Amino acid sequence: MTEFESFFRNDLIEASFAAAVESTTAGVVISNSDLTDNPIVYGNPAFEKLSGYEKPEFIGRNCRFLQGADTSPDAVAAIKRSIEEKRSITLRLLNYRKNGSTFWNELTISPVMVSDQGLAGFVGVQRDVTAEIAAQRTLTEKVEILQSTSASLEQARAELLSAANYDALTGLATRRLFDERLSQSLSRSSRTNEPVAIVLMDLDGFKAVNDRFGHAAGDNVLRMAATRMREQVRDCDTLTRLGGDEFVLLVDTGVTAESVQIVSSRIQKVFDRGFDLETNRVKLGISMGVALFPDQCGSPDGLVRLADSRMYEDKRKKHSGDARPFLIEPIPMTTQGIGPTTDF
Ligand SMILES: Cc1cc2nc3c(=O)[nH]c(=O)nc-3n(C[C@H](O)[C@H](O)[C@H](O)COP(=O)(O)O)c2cc1C
Repeated sequence: MTEFESFFRNDLIEASFAAAVESTTAGVVISNSDLTDNPIVYGNPAFEKLSGYEKPEFIGRNCRFLQGADTSPDAVAAIKRSIEEKRSITLRLLNYRKNGSTFWNELTISPVMVSDQGLAGFVGVQRDVTAEIAAQRTLTEKVEILQSTSASLEQARAELLSAANYDALTGLATRRLFDERLSQSLSRSSRTNEPVAIVLMDLDGFKAVNDRFGHAAGDNVLRMAATRMREQVRDCDTLTRLGGDEFVLLVDTGVTAESVQIVSSRIQKVFDRGFDLETNRVKLGISMGVALFPDQCGSPDGLVRLADSRMYEDKRKKHSGDARPFLIEPIPMTTQGIGPTTDF
């Protein structure tokens, strides 16, 4: 007999242990493994309360009567293995009360070893954790909702940012992004002395296209023009649609008067080809005004103003006679030409 067992056999202590098990709020059952099918030989009042069964209804039965259709077979198999191997196990499984209602049982089963007899049976301690599991599930659901809300918020934020920075019609930068990049370029230029150029551009004859063919056709021309212009500039240059048919190019690397002249003529050239609209081909020009920082102007506002006045000067010259005409002509090879070339 161990020291613990001789201590336990003291009558007073034994009575205290029995009273403690009787009064604890956890369910406690003891089985006798010497008897067939490991039947319950003791169950405390908390177990009666938890299961809804009274002592006469469960003494002598195996505890599996608490299981039902939704009890996990894996959990039951794990219990069976631990009992066969005389090991302790703690797990949570769904159990059924006498009235058929279910509860989540946090169950610990441990072998009861008595030194002179070996295994005497098992003790099972049950705790109803239904409320805890429900709270955990609610929390998990809320976390999932929060995660998906924050993912949609993040997506909405990205969409808003993209809408603010990129023009929906042409995909070019917006005025907002241009202003931001221009101020970055100018402050970098003030430190490094690297020049910055802007090329302000406005289509000639665009209003006539809108008036004659409608806004959808006008939008088409803007899209085609933007695509062609973008093909002429480097990725590091910022090509912007300021609004309507007004564009601006920001160049802040490798800027010389010649390099800006070259990119401007390349952009100008893409307008030599007309823009096809269903049965018609329209030909428009583009007016341009270039301004260089810091050589020609030392302030951001002044830079845009200078480019603007040069662009209007360019446009004015064309309208005063030496401009090429803006034309509408039938698309070659179509059957539905609209007749002879027309000026507008
Ligand atoms: C002491 C003791 C307490 C047990 N308490 C429970 C219990 O509260 N709920 C339960 O579903 N199974 C409980 N079991 C497990 C079953 O009685 C049984 O061992 C399990 O279903 C695996 O065996 P089986 O596959 O033969 O049914 C307990 C087992 C023992 C030995």
